Formats: sequence, structure tokens, C-alpha cells
Amino acid sequence: MSDVAEDEHLLDLMRTAAGTVEVQLERLLSADTQEGEKVRPKRVLNAMRHGVLNGGKRFRPFLVLQSADLFGVPQTDAIRVACALECLHCYSLIHDDLPAMDNDDLRRGVPTVHKAYDEATAILAGDALLTLAFDILSDPKTNDDAEIRVQLTSLLARASGLGGMIGGQALDIEAESRTPDEAGIRLLQSMKTGALIRYACEAGAVLGQASLDQRQMLVRYGEIIGLAFQLSDDLLDVVATSEQMGKATGKDAGAGKGTLVGLHGVEKVRAMLAALVAESDAILIPFGERADILRRTARFVAERRS
Ligand code: IPE
Ligand code: IPE
Ligand code: MG
Ligand code: MG
Ligand code: MG
Repeated sequence: MSDVAEDEHLLDLMRTAAGTVEVQLERLLSADTQEGEKVRPKRVLNAMRHGVLNGGKRFRPFLVLQSADLFGVPQTDAIRVACALECLHCYSLIHDDLPAMDNDDLRRGVPTVHKAYDEATAILAGDALLTLAFDILSDPKTNDDAEIRVQLTSLLARASGLGGMIGGQALDIEAESRTPDEAGIRLLQSMKTGALIRYACEAGAVLGQASLDQRQMLVRYGEIIGLAFQLSDDLLDVVATSEQMGKATGKDAGAGKGTLVGLHGVEKVRAMLAALVAESDAILIPFGERADILRRTARFVAERRS
């Protein structure tokens, strides 16, 4: 296949996966109460739906599905894990946009949750999405094997907590008053963004009961993709328009965000992204052609325009 045809093929796969994930998310965010629940108060439920069912690339779910596919796990057996991770990601965005954090009004081309509702509702909607993620993972519907469910649950707790995404967000805030060096920026990015993306890839290996070696390869691939994803987000903050991104751009430098684009400039970061793609290719060699989609995904992340 030519490069252009391969790109089209990948975009098609991503769109199809996003559609499947959205059907499932719609079900998980219905007004119907589950066993043990009393009522689902409408305003917070609607705010959750606004924060989740509002477009979005569904990149992390795609990675879960593709990593699972590498080990022969059918999409139907990985979809709930993909949705749990997307709920957690959407919670992180709702809170990231709050006035006390990045203070953004636009997300995925529509008003942020605190703008469409109010701050208290946005905080609660985020909290409820965080707990929903763990509700989904620990439910036997996600996997028959309790050992696998526990692993998926505990890995997500670590990836999203103080030593993961939340810790990264804390370092991101600290970086506004004291710009970290390159190692500091890489650390904060590997936590605030990398941890959830790494989880997406590792979860596929856990679902597929991969060998320890193979799982380590997926973890490393996830780390590379995670870094590349935040690097390209920082790059797009400088070179893309708000219309392309569906969120504010051109804000990071003024807000004193610690980014490698700020430290080294756009061209150097483009070269870093190309190097990460090469590194991801090398890691995936043992999987042969079966890893073609993951290989292509690394290129997509490095070259994305939105
Ligand atoms: C935005 O993530 C936050 C970052 C980690 C850069 P995405 O770029 O995946 O946002 P959506 O989910 O597509 O809106
Ligand atoms: C957000 O990073 C990372 C998390 C939400 C954990 P950014 O603050 O750069 O993301 P955007 O640019 O608002 O999407
Ligand atoms: Mg932020
Ligand atoms: Mg932000
Ligand atoms: Mg950003």
C-alpha cells in the first residue's frame, strides 16, 4: 500500500473504532440505574454525557483495541476496557479545563463542561467519570477472569493517580512558576499524558495474557507513543488553529507551561518526533506484520494536524 492509502486505511480504522466505542459509552452513560444505585441525578449525568459524548479522537480506546488485537483478543472483549479508559481520560479533561487549572472555554469544538453547566457540576461530573471507570473495570462483564480484572483495575489506579496522571498535572502546575529542565519536562509529560497512553497499550497485553517480554514491549511502545502524543499536542498549540484543534491554542507559552517546544523550538521537536517513530518501529520488530497498525499509529501521532 502507498503511504497515502495506508494513512486513509488507518483513519478509517480509527473512525470505525470511535463509532463502536461511542455506542458503548452511550449505554454506560444512560439514565438507567444499576444494582446498588438509587437515582442518577440528571444535571450531573448530562454534564458527564457532555464531557464524553462530544467527539474526541478516541485515541486511547483505539490503542486498547489495537494492542489487544495484537494478541488475538476480539474487539468485543476489549471494548469495555477501552471505554473505562476513555471515561477516565474525559474526567481528566473536564478537570484540566477548570478555571483553577488551565481555564479553558472550548473543548472538542464545544463549550467546556464548566461553561455549559457550572464549576461544581463539572467537578462532580469528573469525579463520577473517574469512579465509573473503575466500576466498569471491576464488573465481571469486562472479563470472566477475576485475576485479569484486578490487574486492569490496579494498573489503571497507578496510571491515573499521584504517581501517574494526577502527579503529572501537579508537576505541570509547578512548572508554571519554575520552568523545569529537559529531564523534568519529560518526566511531567510521561506522567500527565504518558501514563494513560502506556496503560492503553499494556491493557491489551493483559487482556491477551501476553508473555512478560511481550508485555514489556507494549509498555515501552506505550511510553514512546505517550511522549510523542504530548510533544505533538505542544507543537500543535504553537502551529495549529483553535478551529483545527477544537480547543484554544497559542496559550502554553503565555501560561508558562513547561514544554520541549518552549525549550527547544518547533524544528527540534519535529526531529524528536521522527526519532520517536523510529524507536517505536524498532520495538515492534519482533511482532512482524501483525504490528503494522501500531507502527502506523506512531507515524499518525507524530504527523497529526489536529
Ligand atoms: C488531550 O487529549 C489532552 C492531552 C493529553 C494532550 P486528546 O488530544 O486525546 O483529546 P481528545 O480526547 O481527542 O479530545
Ligand atoms: C492535559 O494536558 C493532560 C491531561 C488532561 C491529563 P494539556 O493541558 O496540554 O491538554 P489540552 O491541551 O488542554 O488538551
Ligand atoms: Mg493542562
Ligand atoms: Mg489543558
Ligand atoms: Mg495542550
